[in-house]
Amino acid sequence: MAKRVVLAYSGGLDTSVAVRWLMEETGVEVVAVAVDVGQGGDFEAIRNRALAAGAVEAVVVDARREFAEDFVVPALRANAKYEGKYPLVSALSRPCIVKHLVAQAREHGADAVSHGCTGKGNDQVRFEVSTRALAPDLETIAPVRTWGLTREQSIEYAERHNIPITVTKSSPYSIDQNLWGRTIECGILEDPWEQPPEEVYELTTPTATEPIEMVIGFDQGVPVSIDGRSLPLDELIGEVTRVVGSYGWGRLDMIENRRVGIKSREVYECPGSLALLMAHSDLEDLTLERDLSHEKARLEPRYADLVYDGLWFSPLKEALDAFVERSQQFVTGEVRLRCELPGRCLVVGRRSEVGLYDYSLATYEAADAFRHQDAEGFVRLWGLGVETWAARQSRRRP
Ligand code: ARG
Repeated sequence: MAKRVVLAYSGGLDTSVAVRWLMEETGVEVVAVAVDVGQGGDFEAIRNRALAAGAVEAVVVDARREFAEDFVVPALRANAKYEGKYPLVSALSRPCIVKHLVAQAREHGADAVSHGCTGKGNDQVRFEVSTRALAPDLETIAPVRTWGLTREQSIEYAERHNIPITVTKSSPYSIDQNLWGRTIECGILEDPWEQPPEEVYELTTPTATEPIEMVIGFDQGVPVSIDGRSLPLDELIGEVTRVVGSYGWGRLDMIENRRVGIKSREVYECPGSLALLMAHSDLEDLTLERDLSHEKARLEPRYADLVYDGLWFSPLKEALDAFVERSQQFVTGEVRLRCELPGRCLVVGRRSEVGLYDYSLATYEAADAFRHQDAEGFVRLWGLGVETWAARQSRRRP
């Protein structure tokens, strides 16, 4: 049996109750770890709440830059969108959080890690599979999956134990947020026929009044600048999110296949990630050779599945990372993004010193570099097989 547990702590109702529940029901000491991946919030207050709930230790880790550089970058380079749509917001943060849980477990001599996920979601899979990949010796404990408390009962439990929670006007929604976007579930959204009410949105409330253009600079597939201004990636993502979000662009409303076999209705706001993914793949169109581009596109859905399914730390994901990284060698250049009302964001231009677009080959102007005479023989051989087949049709039995 575990004696000391590192708990992934968000400061919300469930993980606050989990602190006390773990102590009371399993007799462990709890080290609460809040990992900042860009979800926002007052981390000093979160730390104090963990201590008030009974944690022996409460740690805040600022992992924003690391999350951007080590988790978002590989996914962006892989154009990773689950089921062709969802940019893997929560799925990307879990392995980053687990990395820090494991590090804190080592530092504080813990023998288990714990999380506040339910049994119906993907996040439990990501937390536990990632933990087993990084630290197979650590136990994993999932109190929320075990205790079977309703929300009302959790609130009552918190009150009974004087756990300071801030359930103000209780929101019916379940929210997860980080630099790469925001996820919204539950409440009225559980009816897939119902349109998401405007109140669920925070990052994509339209406030802009004029169109705007942004030039995103990329270096080997990594966004490095806005309008020529170099920015650390976490800040750059934040800025693109704010600008694009202010046009009301970047919303997704989808029915999604969870790893645990459930179809669920998910609403996402991902203005920054969707805009950067769009810009990145546009620059790839300009800079990747055709076969590489097509093969990469074939592997991308597989990559997204692996991340979604909690297999960030896995041999296939590592091997695909090597392929993707190599493919990005020349994905360097600039993309012009235009945002306009109502709710539009689009690529209107792209350029690259190392791009494969050759004006003198592509132009229809007279003085080009294309050898027109080569086309004739090429086309004849290209169609030779079909021509032969067609000529024999009359002679052959079906
Ligand atoms: N369906 C999304 C995913 O699996 C969002 C999960 C949101 N997580 C949460 N704890 N609210 O990645």
